Amino acid sequence: MTDADPSPAGAILLTPDGSRTALSARYGEAYGSRHGAAAQARHVFVEGSGTQVHPRPRVLEVGFGLGVNFRATLADGERRGVPLEYVAYEFDPAPVAVLREVAEGGMGADHPAWKEVLAGWGGPGPLWVKVPGVSLTVHFADIRTAPLPQGWATALYLDGFSPARNPEVWTEEVVARLASALAPGGVLTTYSAAGHVRRALAAAGLTVERRPGPPGKREHLRAVRP
Ligand SMILES: C[S@@+](CC[C@H](N)C(=O)[O-])C[C@H]1O[C@@H](n2cnc3c(N)ncnc32)[C@H](O)[C@@H]1O
Repeated sequence: MTDADPSPAGAILLTPDGSRTALSARYGEAYGSRHGAAAQARHVFVEGSGTQVHPRPRVLEVGFGLGVNFRATLADGERRGVPLEYVAYEFDPAPVAVLREVAEGGMGADHPAWKEVLAGWGGPGPLWVKVPGVSLTVHFADIRTAPLPQGWATALYLDGFSPARNPEVWTEEVVARLASALAPGGVLTTYSAAGHVRRALAAAGLTVERRPGPPGKREHLRAVRP
């Protein structure tokens, strides 16, 4: 997520809005924004996709990471009293202790669905969580090859580390696969504002918009399936 990460791999990082993130050993990059991990989750993903006003959000996420976007979406759904369906993909699950520490005291951390995530985390099979009002599936699989629901998602959170560090999830081919998972009117949102990402989204038939970014970032992209 960030350009320069001097912290040791695996380190938990406190961000200016009081939320935490961590450094990925594999990518040498923080999972969430160092300028505010919770702020980014809410601004780019929950609000950027219009999920905070959707009456029955169905969210597809690449990748689940530390669950910060999930908790932000969970907290929003709980506050509004709307049901949430969430399907995420993650091919390199972080240790549960990191998920727990990053979440402690944060949004959605007391929700029964989050407690079940922590209790069932680890794979290799999918993680299924079903509590009143919330259904979550985490597939421990590579988004490039995993079967995806077709025409299903009202929101797609594309959050697979930066195009510079993880170019594999930002190719035209993968973006087109992801676009096919969107329901008509569904919105793909990502923190990236890179030109080649914008072009890949447009090539997949989506209507791309630039939107003001979260703290520390000028712009990000959202793309709507007509
Ligand atoms: C920036 S982090 C995601 C942060 C997460 N959305 C959150 O809210 O905590 C990127 C995640 O994408 C996962 N990832 C990267 N490439 C992937 C792929 N091809 N398939 C599935 N997951 C992938 C990484 O393992 C990492 O956990």
